[in-house]
Amino acid sequence: MDHHRSRSPNSRYHNHHHSAYRRERGHGRRNHSDGDPLTHHRDQLDVKTGQTPLRSQTLSTRKDLYERDFPLYRQPVEVGCFSLDSQRRFFNDGRQMRYYVEPDKNPNFDLKDGYKDRYVRRDENVKEKLDHILRWILANKETLKSKGTADSPRALDVDFVTWRGHLTKLLTTPYETKEGWLLAATKFNGTVYISEVETEAARIEREKRPERNKEMMYWGYKFEQYTCADNADSLPDPSGVVNTNEAFCTVVQTRLADHKLLFSGEVDCRDKDPNAPPPPACYVELKTSPEICTPKQRSNFHRFKLLKWWAQSFLPGVPRIVAGFKDHDGVVVSTETFLVSKVSQLIKNEYNCWRPTVCMNFCCDFLSFVKAIVTENDHSLVYLFSWEPYKDVTYSVHRDSQYSFLPRWFIDGMSGNQESHH
Ligand code: A3P
Ligand code: MG
Repeated sequence: MDHHRSRSPNSRYHNHHHSAYRRERGHGRRNHSDGDPLTHHRDQLDVKTGQTPLRSQTLSTRKDLYERDFPLYRQPVEVGCFSLDSQRRFFNDGRQMRYYVEPDKNPNFDLKDGYKDRYVRRDENVKEKLDHILRWILANKETLKSKGTADSPRALDVDFVTWRGHLTKLLTTPYETKEGWLLAATKFNGTVYISEVETEAARIEREKRPERNKEMMYWGYKFEQYTCADNADSLPDPSGVVNTNEAFCTVVQTRLADHKLLFSGEVDCRDKDPNAPPPPACYVELKTSPEICTPKQRSNFHRFKLLKWWAQSFLPGVPRIVAGFKDHDGVVVSTETFLVSKVSQLIKNEYNCWRPTVCMNFCCDFLSFVKAIVTENDHSLVYLFSWEPYKDVTYSVHRDSQYSFLPRWFIDGMSGNQESHH
C-alpha cells in the first residue's frame, strides 16, 4: 500500500553511516558519553562455545538516530487466525471473533459493573510465551512452508516470528522512559523467534499491583463487552461474564525493509457489515482513556497515549480505533473514532512529540541488529536482548537455560518427526 512507503523507500537503509549499530572492528572504540552511538564492550558469556568469546555490540535507542525516511512497510496480509476459548484452549479458527456495535456518542457505560461477580481473569502467572502462535504455525505448516532451499529444506519463508505486542514495545522504545524490556531470540530452521521475558521490575509491579489498578484493568475489557456482539446480527450483552481468557487473534505477514515478519495479535472486533473490506482492514481496536478536559490533558493524550495506540494498530494494519472516554468513576461518557492513518496529522502541532518514522526505523534497525547477532541455528540457544530506559540495547547468550522457549512438540512437529496433534 502506497501510504506505507516512503517516497524513496528505504533509500538510506543500507548506508551504514546512518545505522545505529556496527560490528566491532577492535579499534576506534569510544565511550558512550561522548555521543557516539556505536559503542561496544566485551560480553559476559555464559555459553561454552569453545570459540573465542563473541564480541558484543550494543544498539542505541536515541531518537535522533532514527530520524530518517520512513522505511518500507508492506501492507500486512492476514494469513490466518486462531481463537482461545474461556479456558484458554487453542482453536485454529475464528470462533471468538466479535462484531462491533457502534455505541451512542454519549453513552453511560458503567465499567465497574460485574468486577466482583462476573469476572474471570486470565492467570498471569502462566507464561505462554509463543506457544499459541507455534500451535498455529504447526497446524498450518503445509501452506506456510516454502519450497525449500538446498541449505534449508522446507523452512518457513519468514525472518521473524513474534507477537504483535513485542513489536509494539520495540516501536515505542525510543520514547519510553519508564519500562525496560527483555526479548529472547532463538534461530530455528533459519527463522528467528522472538519471545518476551518478564523483567524483575515488571514482575514486582504485577505482584504488588494495587487493588484500584486491578479494577481499572477490568474496565478496558468491560468496555469491549458494551460494544461487541457475538454475531453480526446480535447485540452486546453487558449482563454476561467478562472472561479475559477468551481471545481472537489475527496472524499477519508483512515486510519491514528487508525483514520478512510473521506475527500475531489479539483483535477486539470487526465491522459487522459483510461488505466491509477483508481483514485486517475490517478490524476495530477498542480503547478506553480518561476523559479529556484541559488542553494539557489533550496534549498528554496525543504525546503518550496515541503513540501506544498508533503503534499497536499500525503494525497489523488495523485502520480504526474506537475510544471510550471515562470519568473518574469508571463511566464511559463519550466515544470517538480515530483513524490510524490520520494520527500523524493529529499530533503534528504537538511540541516535542513522537514520530512514526523514528518508531519504524528503530524497529527495523533492532531487527537488523538481531539478525547480525543471532546467527547460530539452535533451538536450545537463546540470545537475550535487554534494554532499560536511557541505556543502549545489550545482549547475552544462554544455552539450555531457563530462557529456552521453543517447546519439544514444536521442534519435532516442524521437523516432521511427529503428527501435529497438540
Ligand atoms: P484499555 O487499554 O482500553 O484500557 P487492548 O486494548 O490492548 O486490547 O487491551 C484490553 C484491555 O486490557 C485494556 O483496555 C486494559 O484494560 C487491559 N490491559 C491490557 N494491557 C494492560 C497493561 N499493560 N496494564 C493494564 N491493563 C492492561
Ligand atoms: Mg483494545
